Amino acid sequence: MKSEKNLVYKSVILAIESSCDDTSAAVLADRQLLSNVVANQKIHEKYGGVVPEVASRAHLEHIIPVVDQAIKEAKIEKSQISAIAVTRGPGLMGSLLVGNVFAKSLAYSLGIPILDVHHMQAHILAHFIEKPCPSFPFLCLTVSGGHTQIVKIVNHLEMTILGETIDDAAGEAFDKTGKMLGLTYPAGPQIDNLAQLGKPVFKFPEPKIDGLNFSFSGLKTSILYFLKRQLKENPEFIQENLHDLCASIQHRIVTILINKLEKAAREENIQHIAIAGGVSANTGLRTALTELGKHHGWQTYIPKFQFCTDNAAMIAITGHFKYQKGQFADQTIAPSARMNW
Ligand code: KG4
Ligand code: ZN
Repeated sequence: MKSEKNLVYKSVILAIESSCDDTSAAVLADRQLLSNVVANQKIHEKYGGVVPEVASRAHLEHIIPVVDQAIKEAKIEKSQISAIAVTRGPGLMGSLLVGNVFAKSLAYSLGIPILDVHHMQAHILAHFIEKPCPSFPFLCLTVSGGHTQIVKIVNHLEMTILGETIDDAAGEAFDKTGKMLGLTYPAGPQIDNLAQLGKPVFKFPEPKIDGLNFSFSGLKTSILYFLKRQLKENPEFIQENLHDLCASIQHRIVTILINKLEKAAREENIQHIAIAGGVSANTGLRTALTELGKHHGWQTYIPKFQFCTDNAAMIAITGHFKYQKGQFADQTIAPSARMNW
């Protein structure tokens, strides 16, 4: 296989991600990332959350131009692609369907295999897109809009969930409390920015949850009642205290996450610790992990910003490891909104 520049590749993987509200395509050749194109869907801002039907229609509009651009930026021909990796789940069914049907059709027309990828495993394996990569075994706190998990990773394709949320995800906690403050969706990045100008002066409770599981719904309710009480006395309370409110909310979410991660590291006796997923872009979480790592002598792994939120590069690297092991899917695969691993 030769590219425009006459480079010969052993394997070229085209990856497609469409599980939620971002359409993304990437090309990885011999484990080198050649392109990673992401089209965001701004349309959900005004609804205060992702509207599934709107998301799938936007994926339909974006998928062809996004895949075309990824192939163009990678300077390869379609005929050079060895396999197509696609997010099979978990995610929104309509959104997943667009990526899966597109991937299967293209793979069929090119006569190449499909690699089905688990979205949350891919968030973790984003740490292998570029060096330095984590050493095995390592723990990963995977925090996104739909999931919050502590995972033990034994090798690229073998991982165990040690704990997870029993209700809302960490990203949801940011987005829903942000909505209470009048912020648009997704509120996580805005809380992060506003928190940098404030102090965590308001003390919100830390839930007492057994083992390595998490819960965020109690925190959400306590913030709601706190705001209601304050607004009764001062209707301008949110505007006057926005920075401190954001700093306080972020501080509590981050301490809930970090305390469980510390417990997991102690119980598993593992000193290689990573974070992944959209919420791993959070400045407070990144700083807290770095500091805790220094304190305990851990080797910590924090992803580059472009590999925190949804992207197809992470689907491509996961596809690469499955390709190496010959773990192909066939044309009968269907997307799965609640995919297990
Ligand atoms: O991984 P991701 O892009 O999509 C899912 O798989 O869900 O994560 C999206 C989530 C959203 O809840 C968003 O608010 C949150 O990640 N997020 C952040 C930050 N950037 C994205 N939360 C806090 N601070 C950030 N800087
Ligand atoms: Zn994600």
